[in-house]
Amino acid sequence: MRWPWGLTLWLLSISACWDGCAAAAVRRDAAADLSDSAVPDGVSPFLRKRGVGWGLNATHIRTLAGLSWWYKWGPSVRDPETTRAAAAVGMRFVPEQWGRGGIADLGARIQPGSAVLLSFNEPNHQLQASLTPQEAAELWPQLEEVADRLGLRLGAPAAAPCGAQCVTPSPFDWWDEFFTRCDGCRVDFLVTHYYSCNADWLATYLRQCRKYQRPIWLKEFACPNPGGTDVVSWQYMVRALGLLDRDGWVEKYAWFALETSGWLGTSNSLMNLHTGALTELGQLYMGYTPAAAAAGTSSDNSQEAGTTSWSELCQSCIHHLGSGGLLVGLAPQQHKYCSESCGFWERNEAQAPVQPDINPT
Ligand SMILES: *[C@@H]1O[C@H](CO)[C@@H](O)[C@H](O)[C@H]1NC(C)=O
Repeated sequence: MRWPWGLTLWLLSISACWDGCAAAAVRRDAAADLSDSAVPDGVSPFLRKRGVGWGLNATHIRTLAGLSWWYKWGPSVRDPETTRAAAAVGMRFVPEQWGRGGIADLGARIQPGSAVLLSFNEPNHQLQASLTPQEAAELWPQLEEVADRLGLRLGAPAAAPCGAQCVTPSPFDWWDEFFTRCDGCRVDFLVTHYYSCNADWLATYLRQCRKYQRPIWLKEFACPNPGGTDVVSWQYMVRALGLLDRDGWVEKYAWFALETSGWLGTSNSLMNLHTGALTELGQLYMGYTPAAAAAGTSSDNSQEAGTTSWSELCQSCIHHLGSGGLLVGLAPQQHKYCSESCGFWERNEAQAPVQPDINPT
């Protein structure tokens, strides 16, 4: 097992992608090249899947240059400076129809140049889009009409595990009924959210999601860790990115979120919005490159993905710190987290550091 770090310097040389990219992407999508969908030319293969959910502005975009996509639970960017900044770094905005509101004029509100359309946000949660499968199926022809007319790939309603105030607690129950009632509907890929600090549970959940035989977008994920130490989220991210990047069914994913608080705790933040600086977790998200991808192995659906033991991580960490050369840019953070990881591992040798999952399936 190699310590799964790659270099980040070459990300700085990402080629610019101007307005022509959107049209090119639509043509690629039409050719059903799923792995390349919504990815501008020139984006690193290690970051092709990676994005973020947030209402980004131009400054954020420049800091996050290298991620392939973002979304903000709405249909358009609105701010022209943000649109220009995104085009300059080749970061793709993905519109979303959040709930039932505004569907009638969705076509007019969608960001020009889009290649993909996301649909209802957590319809099986009463506090989110709150739609029964039948209601969603009845609304679907309107989404499909817009997607057909604008040449957009269309994502499934983003059902997600629900613990309280649910339309349906299990996303699978919700989707099962939706796909039955929406027989013959165009649904190009599955979309979901998953919150846990256990990467093995994430892997199991994503395997269950394959039953719909569609590529998967994990549109929100993070490690709920209120009041906990940052290293717990950091370790979860290492393991989650390892499995997500290697899982051939996973087409896109987006960490939640740029800044977090409340039930997630502050330790899932990618950026300090006050200073505009990436957090250490944000630097990990921008710099992480999976060992499998670096070695050029094909993406597969390995059960081992993401199950590296803490002792292996610790040993690889120390080994590469000792050998120097591999670490560029992130070295100070890696030093800190290597030692924290080792300490964490030593204290938890007997039992894997599994966090309570607030969204068990
Ligand atoms: C973007 O938001 C940050 C706060 O997160 C702010 O400091 C910055 O000035 C904003 N940039 C633009 C271009 O509005």
